[in-house]
Amino acid sequence: MPGVAPDPPVIGLFDSGVGGLSLWRELRRALPAMPLIYAADTAAFPYGARSAAEVAARARALAQLLVAQGATLLVAACNSIGTAALAEVRAATGVPVVGTVPAIRPAAAATASGQIAALVTPLTAGGLGYAALLAAVPPHVQVWTRPCAGLAEQVEAGVLASPRTRALVVRALAEPVAAGVDAVVLGCTHYVFLAPLVQAVAGPNVRLFDGNAGVVRQVERLVSTSTPSTAQLANRCFTTGPAAPFAAVARRLLGREAAALGPIVQHPIEADR
Ligand code: DGL
Repeated sequence: MPGVAPDPPVIGLFDSGVGGLSLWRELRRALPAMPLIYAADTAAFPYGARSAAEVAARARALAQLLVAQGATLLVAACNSIGTAALAEVRAATGVPVVGTVPAIRPAAAATASGQIAALVTPLTAGGLGYAALLAAVPPHVQVWTRPCAGLAEQVEAGVLASPRTRALVVRALAEPVAAGVDAVVLGCTHYVFLAPLVQAVAGPNVRLFDGNAGVVRQVERLVSTSTPSTAQLANRCFTTGPAAPFAAVARRLLGREAAALGPIVQHPIEADR
């Protein structure tokens, strides 16, 4: 378990791209005075198509960048990191690290039909962290694991409702929905932005789950509420690839809230292997 973040807390969130902004938005709404630094490894996107070793090396370097920039608590806003590389990130930094994993447990607890589906990246689907989540599912619940190659790319491009995006979601859900799933896990932070589309494809009787609210609760427990953050530490954002495309998609996904990301600047990283 991570320890308590030193005061004044500064939260550093990191992901391969824009997906973690779904968690950034939820954290900002819950802790409006908390300085947030966001790092997007857009030069190495998508993590879901990479090996666990590659993602671990990139995630370590991102985490170290955030700590160097003043973060006192890290949030891996990426299920691929959370299931495949969290231990390596923890070992590489001296600050508490909270990670998100697919919300299989709450979905399995809520299902009435005993059928749930999990939309995840290929890396998450094949990883040990995900296997451990499946192993903890009660025997009467069947989990349809759906690796969604190409789906995070649609969100990264800001294309939330195109025919291709819809086709990818339909392809992932057709069989499990026909089998009677009543819970669908959005097991990648990018997919949280696709919730309206997934709900439309899955139908009104299917409940969606993601890990973001659980991470926010964990962060709230870790940061000290007795020492309010100093306001002079403003929000900031780093991208390892060009900043402009990220900024444009962030505006599309977050609307006016995107202004609160603060300055968005390119900052390449060196990942050791
Ligand atoms: N947002 C990430 C996740 O939650 C990774 C998406 C990707 O880079 O493939 O898994």
